[in-house]
This record gives sequence, structure tokens and C-alpha cells, in this order.
Amino acid sequence: MKKLHKILIANGVNLDLLGIRETSIYGSEDLKSLEKQILEFKNKLEKMYLCDIDLEFFQTNEESSLLQKVSENFDGIVLNPAAWTHTSLALADSLKSIETPYIETHLSNIHNREEYRKHSYTAPKASGVIHGLGFTSYKAALMALIDIID
Ligand code: DQA
Repeated sequence: MKKLHKILIANGVNLDLLGIRETSIYGSEDLKSLEKQILEFKNKLEKMYLCDIDLEFFQTNEESSLLQKVSENFDGIVLNPAAWTHTSLALADSLKSIETPYIETHLSNIHNREEYRKHSYTAPKASGVIHGLGFTSYKAALMALIDIID
């Protein structure tokens, strides 16, 4: 029987504005289009790893909703905390309190921007960090996650 992996794709604050906000950095495609591309890539991964992947997409502009969500029952999380990456001790604490592996993911290269984006509160507990590849960051993160947990 095929293994089933329940994966959360979690996007933090302002990522609902993809396609509108700072398009020279984040691109002109919106969140729906990101989700569509991830779903297409999921189908490829299922064939490659001979597994089933159950994806849940989640985006919020409320920090407490994200804290709540990451503590639900998932086998792995692709997590783009957006600006909370650089500010949220609360999110870092929540992530420390769960066992679920997660890959921290960013569209942009956070080391090639303002100084304050170089620090991540959420990276130390992550299984890995992938950034700078646009939508491909999410696909690479999903593949890494499946490879780790499968
Ligand atoms: C981001 C990078 C963060 O610094 C920024 O606050 C975001 C998006 C990214 O995906 O590149 O909102 O997480």
C-alpha cells in the first residue's frame, strides 16, 4: 500500500497579495497560481516517490492563526512565514514545541536584500531553508520534505 503524507503549505502575512505587491521581487503571478503549480508538481512527486500526498493550502494575516495551524496534525510543513520570519519570537517558540518537520521557504533571496531580512527567528528549528527561487522554492521545499519523511 502507498504511504500517505499529509502536508501543510503555509503562507504568512501579505502573501495573499502575491501578484500585486512588489512584483519586481515577488513576480506577477498570484497565490492561486502558486497553489496550482504546487499541485501540478505534487502529481510528479507522487509518481517519483510512489506515494500519495495530501496537500492543505493555508494563508493568513493573523499571527495567532498561523501558530494554531502549525500545531495541527501534519507529517510536514512547507512554511513561508513572510515578515514574521524576521520578527516573531512567538512563531519560533511554537515551532520549537512541535515535532513536525518543516522547510522554511522564501520566494526572494533574503540574504540579498535589506539587513533586517537576513535574520530568521524560524530557521534554526527548520529541517532546511530554501529561498530565492520564486515559486520553485516551494516545489524544491516540497520535494525535500517528501524525501525526508518518505
Ligand atoms: C518573503 C521574504 C520576507 O522578507 C518578506 O517579508 C515577505 C516574503 C519571501 O517569500 O521572499 O513577505 O518571505
